[in-house]
Amino acid sequence: MEIIHTISELRSRLKVESLIVFVPTMGSLHAGHIDLMRVARERAGVGGCVIVSIFVNRLQFGPKEDFGKYPRTLSDDCDKCRAARVDVVFAPDESEMYPEPQTYLVEPSEIQHILEGAVRSGHYRGVATVVLKLFNMVQPQVAVFGKKDYQQCRVLDNMARQLNLPVEMLLAETVRADDGLALSSRNGYLSPNERTEAPQLSAALSAIKSALRKGERNFVALESHAQRTLMARGWLPDYIVIRRQSDLLPPSISDRALVVLAAARLGATRLIDNLEVSI
Ligand code: PAJ
Repeated sequence: MEIIHTISELRSRLKVESLIVFVPTMGSLHAGHIDLMRVARERAGVGGCVIVSIFVNRLQFGPKEDFGKYPRTLSDDCDKCRAARVDVVFAPDESEMYPEPQTYLVEPSEIQHILEGAVRSGHYRGVATVVLKLFNMVQPQVAVFGKKDYQQCRVLDNMARQLNLPVEMLLAETVRADDGLALSSRNGYLSPNERTEAPQLSAALSAIKSALRKGERNFVALESHAQRTLMARGWLPDYIVIRRQSDLLPPSISDRALVVLAAARLGATRLIDNLEVSI
């Protein structure tokens, strides 16, 4: 496995490759990321090249968010990539990625203002911009993203389609701990008591899923019941909503492909999760 820090080195290394499968990350890698690498390795086969980028992207963090304290563990991360049979790690530093102020930005239209976007202004602009830059550097045929960040998948999938990027987007399932908690680099911020409580978020999503599967169609009642349940346990939910998978807008009664999305604060940590439901 090679570890590359500059764009020029990356370009000359990848010139020889005919199938590049790309997994963008911000590092602090856990089993969720490793599973994306497994999906990438499988898609690339023996002849293809799997490349993982590790870059904590300042542009997608709000001024009050955890950019400064976001965990940075490059050498551990590289060990994990090596074990996952990754071919190349691309770990540019800030001056390589943003040598001048980034004044050209990707605006993901309506979807950037709802749900996560309503709470994290500018977040998806920062995500879309860095991913487009990374795509231009890596020029992958395939890119792998996790459904854990469902809205991010939608934003990036729309970007690839509308800007005619020659990239196949592969969306991988969320990896969870045995108790249901979706794996996240931010889980490390939880105190032991909070860690015990944290699976209640996925439990709330599962409860809505099973009610929908049983035929319940009062979406608002399901959402507010889940919200109250979490609040009673000490959570501060930003949203817990039933949306349609295609555009994340509220479903009509005839929509069949749904997704339940939630974001809530537990102490100082903000957790997000979601569950697809086909009815
Ligand atoms: P990061 O949070 O490091 O996540 C990298 C990839 O791992 C994303 O596609 C994310 O959805 C996926 N992922 C995270 N937790 C997962 C889990 N429990 N199961 C499956 N996949 C999981 O998402 C980002 O970085 C950044 O926004 C990025 C796209 C790299 C742009 O900076």
